[in-house]
Amino acid sequence: MKIIVTKDYESLSLRACQLIEEEVERRPDAVLGLATGSTPLGTYKQMIRSYKHGRTDYQHVTTFNLDEYVGLTGDHPQSYRFFMEEQLFKYLNVPSNHTYIPNGTADDMEEECERYERLIDEIGPPDLQLLGIGQNGHIGFNEPGTPFDSETHLIKLAESTRKANARFFDTLEDVPTRAITMGIRSILKSKRILLLASGERKAEAIYRLLNEVVDEKFPASSLNRHADVTLIVDEKAYHKVEETGGNRSVE
Ligand code: GLP
Repeated sequence: MKIIVTKDYESLSLRACQLIEEEVERRPDAVLGLATGSTPLGTYKQMIRSYKHGRTDYQHVTTFNLDEYVGLTGDHPQSYRFFMEEQLFKYLNVPSNHTYIPNGTADDMEEECERYERLIDEIGPPDLQLLGIGQNGHIGFNEPGTPFDSETHLIKLAESTRKANARFFDTLEDVPTRAITMGIRSILKSKRILLLASGERKAEAIYRLLNEVVDEKFPASSLNRHADVTLIVDEKAYHKVEETGGNRSVE
């Protein structure tokens, strides 16, 4: 795993944006894997800013998102479809029929999982997959214990994840209990992975990622089995590794 430690969240976001833009410049029809949560927001802001200056053209790009809450329609303000439209898609020229996100209100969820995985295989896999990390090491919505050979599937959200995400909802009860997520194997199909982590609340997860054995109890540890992962982490999220002697080069 390649590690880039940045001074703060802003430089982390700039660096991630640069790497995504380089990918699209190299490959104008790139398939990008995208993520939600608060961590990629700065990256998306930088992409939008840069797009406004005419730097990157997304007209041939396709995107796949990792996950979606079950039961929320795309126009629900807390759905990940809505998040992506508001935080990124509406500002770029990526064609709307090239933006894939699992359908959280499909009649047949099992069929939806299969359909999504097929799309990833047929159109993807992503050339570059952007990832955040949950405090319990989840990636996408793959909670601890998810088999490493999982593909797109339905999951029950861990209570800790519902609590962590409750800040986006009016009350904890409003946070859906289930989600549809790309599995660990689906994520590892990506050619290259960009993992972002920022702030003190991720320090423990980053320490575990870099120090623990690869184990299904800590889903992000599966990334150690991928040949091309870049971790971009800010000083606050890296401090525990550093205190225990991690190497680094600050950008
Ligand atoms: C959410 C998402 C993940 C995200 C993670 C971290 O539950 N499903 O894709 O990476 O939690 O979120 P944040 O970036 O807000 O800390």
